[in-house]
Parts: sequence; structure tokens; C-alpha cells
Amino acid sequence: MTAVASHNIVKTFGDIVALDGVSVEFEEGIVYGLLGPNGAGKTTLIRVLATLLKPDSGSATVAGVDVIADPVGARHKIGLAGQSAAVDEFLTGRENVEMVGRLYNLSKEEAKTRATDVLEAINLTDAADRKVGTYSGGMRRRLDLAASMVGRPQILFLDEPTTGIDPGSRLDLWDLIEDLVAGGTTLLLTTQYLDEADRLADRIGVINHGKLIAEGTSNELKDQLGGDVVEIHVDEQDRAAAADVLTGIAGSEPVAERLSLSIPAPEGSKTLTAVVRELDAAAIEPRDIALRKPTLDDVFLTLTGHKAEAKPEEPAETGRRRR
Ligand SMILES: Nc1ncnc2c1ncn2[C@@H]1O[C@H](COP(=O)(O)OP(=O)(O)O)[C@@H](O)[C@H]1O
Ligand SMILES: [Mg+2]
Repeated sequence: MTAVASHNIVKTFGDIVALDGVSVEFEEGIVYGLLGPNGAGKTTLIRVLATLLKPDSGSATVAGVDVIADPVGARHKIGLAGQSAAVDEFLTGRENVEMVGRLYNLSKEEAKTRATDVLEAINLTDAADRKVGTYSGGMRRRLDLAASMVGRPQILFLDEPTTGIDPGSRLDLWDLIEDLVAGGTTLLLTTQYLDEADRLADRIGVINHGKLIAEGTSNELKDQLGGDVVEIHVDEQDRAAAADVLTGIAGSEPVAERLSLSIPAPEGSKTLTAVVRELDAAAIEPRDIALRKPTLDDVFLTLTGHKAEAKPEEPAETGRRRR
């Protein structure tokens, strides 16, 4: 059965076109990753699908229910966890989850039983009876996730579930999300992290400036690059000259990471040989040189001309609430 289908969704805020005709469709039982940088329109699309925001035009269904014609019916099909989800600091974790259960029309007893179950599933049993004010950022994310699951939604929306949390908690959350999926939950997950989409998502939609610019499995997206990548590591003083050499071979500037430079290698080892020969001719001795498979990073860069991930130490979105 179709989990989510959106058709040509347009949403503007004054002059800002947040969604510029977005059509997304995927089946139940998979993880769909919506990948894009800050401001791409991810949260806006989630809010439209979650019936929290009316689009200017276009249509959408969740589990077959029209989100515009029947928002109440649609809300029963979905759970939402994300950057904007609220938890009450002065209640315990358990009380928060029970409260959300009551909002989903569970009886008092059901809400209690269900809260115990999801808190266990999310590894928060030990902290369940502490006030949320004492929780770490990672624990809050898990609580948020628990609350989104309490009503047994058919489809879960996770809006940037790991943004702004420490790397260890991030790995824990990935494990948790994978457990959820193994249990049969359909997920729509947004992320700015390529590795996250690569690891968790069965299908990936790349969104930029309110438009879906590519779609497919992680492998299909990598194939769009049309082959391997040559990556070199050079000493700092050789970097500029090496970049010139690579530009000459590739016909466009190399992708520059902190320690490496890389270019597409459409001819595989032939391109590699050319790089080795021309670096040698320029008297540059690379510290390392390799032919590797493209990553989603390369794909995003090729599609958009810029990197997807805001560096964790310099968030691009000012005033983002850190939790
Ligand atoms: N309530 C709003 N009012 C005005 N502009 C908004 C509002 N919500 C989002 N936007 C703008 O719409 C664009 C998409 O935002 P958003 O969907 O939050 O992107 P993302 O979640 O991918 O970072 C951005 O330019 C953002 O500033
Ligand atoms: Mg967002």
C-alpha cells in the first residue's frame, strides 16, 4: 500500500517559495529519506503531510487518507517526532508519553501500558520517572521518538532526528530507528546528513530550494555520477598545484575536503593513471592516492554544486533550538 503520496505541493511564505511543486511517493514498509541542506523545505513538507500546514496548491495522502480533505483521519495514521516537537520539562518522561497517548484517545489504562512499552523499546525505562528537565539532549530525542510511537501510527515522520546531538547518542538513535524499522514501521525521515540517509533509508529523495532534484536508492544515486572517483591526499604546500592538475584532467574543479581532493574518474584506472602521471610531471608527490566508489557526498555535490552538511561546529541555521 502507498504510505505517502504528494502531488505538486507548493507552499510559499510571502516571497519565499518553501516548496516548489514537490511530488513524492513511496510504499509502506520502507524508510524514505528526504535529504537536503538547511532551508531546503524538509520541515515544511513534513508539516504539510502531518496536516499542520495547508499547502497553497497540490495534494497529498498518508496511508490513503487525504491530508487536506480529512486532516483528522490523516492524523490518526501518523506519528511525528522532530526539532519542533514539544516535551514538558516539568513532567517525567513517563507522564509526557502518557499525555500524548491520551491525545491519541487511548484510555487511561491503555496509555499507561503503552507508555511502559514504548519507553522500554526506546531504552528509557530507568529514567522514565525522572523529570524531563534532567534529561540529556539524546534522551530528549529518544523521549520525543517514544511519544511519536505511543499511538501506534502506521507511518512515522522523523524530522532531523539526530541534528544537534552528540555522535554517541546519534549512533544509539540509529540503532533504535533500525529496530523500529525491523518491527515494520514505515518511516519518512529528513536529514542533512548523507551518511544518515545512506545508512537508514531504502529510498532517498534529494531536496534543494523546495524542489526534489533526484530520487532513488542510495546505489542508484551513486550511479548517477557514472563511475568511480580518484581521491588524493597531498601536503598543504602542494594543494593548490595539485588542484590545478586535477582541474586539467577533470575539466572542472576537484571536490576539496579538509585533507583530500577528488575528481570523477569516468575511465576508472585510466583516469587514475593520468592523475599519477601528471602529478609526477608537476613534481608533486601525493601522500595517498586511490580509486574509490562515489559517496552520497559526491552525488549531492554533483547535483547542487555545494555540500549538503552544515558543519556541526558552525550551524548554518541561526537561532536553531539546541536540545
Ligand atoms: N513559518 C515560516 N515563515 C516564513 N518562512 C518560513 C517559515 N517556515 C519555513 N520558512 C522558510 O521556508 C524555507 C524552507 O524551510 P524549512 O522547510 O524549514 O527547511 P528545512 O527544514 O529543509 O531546513 C526556508 O527558506 C525557511 O526560511
Ligand atoms: Mg527543518
